[in-house]
Amino acid sequence: MKAPVRVTVTGAAGNISYSILFRIAAGNMLGPDQPVILQCLEIPPAMGALNGVVMELNDCAFPLLHDIVATDDANVGFKDADFALLVGAMPRKKGMLRKDLLTANSKIFSAQGKAINDNAKEDCRVLVVGNPANTNALITMANAPKIKHGNITAMTRLDHNRAISQLADKTGVASTDIKKMTIWGNHSATQYPDISQTTVDGKDATTLVDTDWYRDDFIPKVQQRGAAIIEARGASSAASAASAAIDHMRDWALGTAEGDWVSMAIPSDGSYGVPEGLIYSYPVTCSGGEYSIVQDLPIDEFSRERMDATANELSEEQDDVKDLL
Ligand code: NAD
Ligand code: LMR
Repeated sequence: MKAPVRVTVTGAAGNISYSILFRIAAGNMLGPDQPVILQCLEIPPAMGALNGVVMELNDCAFPLLHDIVATDDANVGFKDADFALLVGAMPRKKGMLRKDLLTANSKIFSAQGKAINDNAKEDCRVLVVGNPANTNALITMANAPKIKHGNITAMTRLDHNRAISQLADKTGVASTDIKKMTIWGNHSATQYPDISQTTVDGKDATTLVDTDWYRDDFIPKVQQRGAAIIEARGASSAASAASAAIDHMRDWALGTAEGDWVSMAIPSDGSYGVPEGLIYSYPVTCSGGEYSIVQDLPIDEFSRERMDATANELSEEQDDVKDLL
């Protein structure tokens, strides 16, 4: 058996965490031979509810769950963390944009960035889920200079999975038959779900669906899926967000499948003309615990415009939080 690793989850008494914690403890994130210590961080008013979640985790008698820390002290919560999932933040309500949350949530990420910097392992892998996720990751990164560059990432895997599901449904195949889906840019309504390189059961996706469906139906549906869930459920996506976070961390730690790639929002190195430093979603492959951007994909005019629009939105968000960077 391997030595246990420490996994911090913030917002541990919230909706997403009610799914995420159990999946991590069951081995879905780091594999069936990797024991974990869960470090659950909350704010003081939620400590009672968190205590109930800890009781339930214990009641599962998960073989891989070696210990649970429940705390409202970020220095304790991030102590020696190998992985950190930053979920704790306010979700949006009907009629809001994700960036409307910036004022409420940005301070959480500057404080937690500092606590990560002071306490976590330097090679801690961090995933920001709390919205607006890309810009919150930017704030976290600016406040955690000791953490290995590139290890603070944001989640667009839910968008990636949504896009796969929509295309699989349209073309009548299983989701596993869809390869090389890409989400470019921000986890917001400007994101660009791109099927120009996607294959469906080995065939070029663009030859199987018509352009009108792709442009007028598929793209807006993926971009607006979070709002549609809020409309239907009266609350933002939770179990699907948890599942996407597990997918993001699992693929980063354990590797992506041969002949496929996934979407991760990561600090731009300037690839594809995106301003360096923005937390921008790219197609990536992962191996040996590292991700690399898929390079040299052809970009046509339609894609270029959309990739630039979502980068511009991220630059505006960056400007809005410059005091925290
Ligand atoms: P929730 O309100 O159910 O839970 C959030 C929890 O965070 C609460 O228990 C709250 O007490 C806690 N919290 C608040 N401030 C904290 C702090 N400083 N430290 C630790 N914990 C803190 O919300 P939820 O449905 O779990 O959603 C959480 C966030 O995830 C929201 O911002 C939501 O918009 C976002 N989200 C992102 C994606 C994505 O794809 N990136 C998908 C779904 C939801
Ligand atoms: C989602 O995409 O479901 C989440 O980001 C929640 C939201 O506000 O849309």
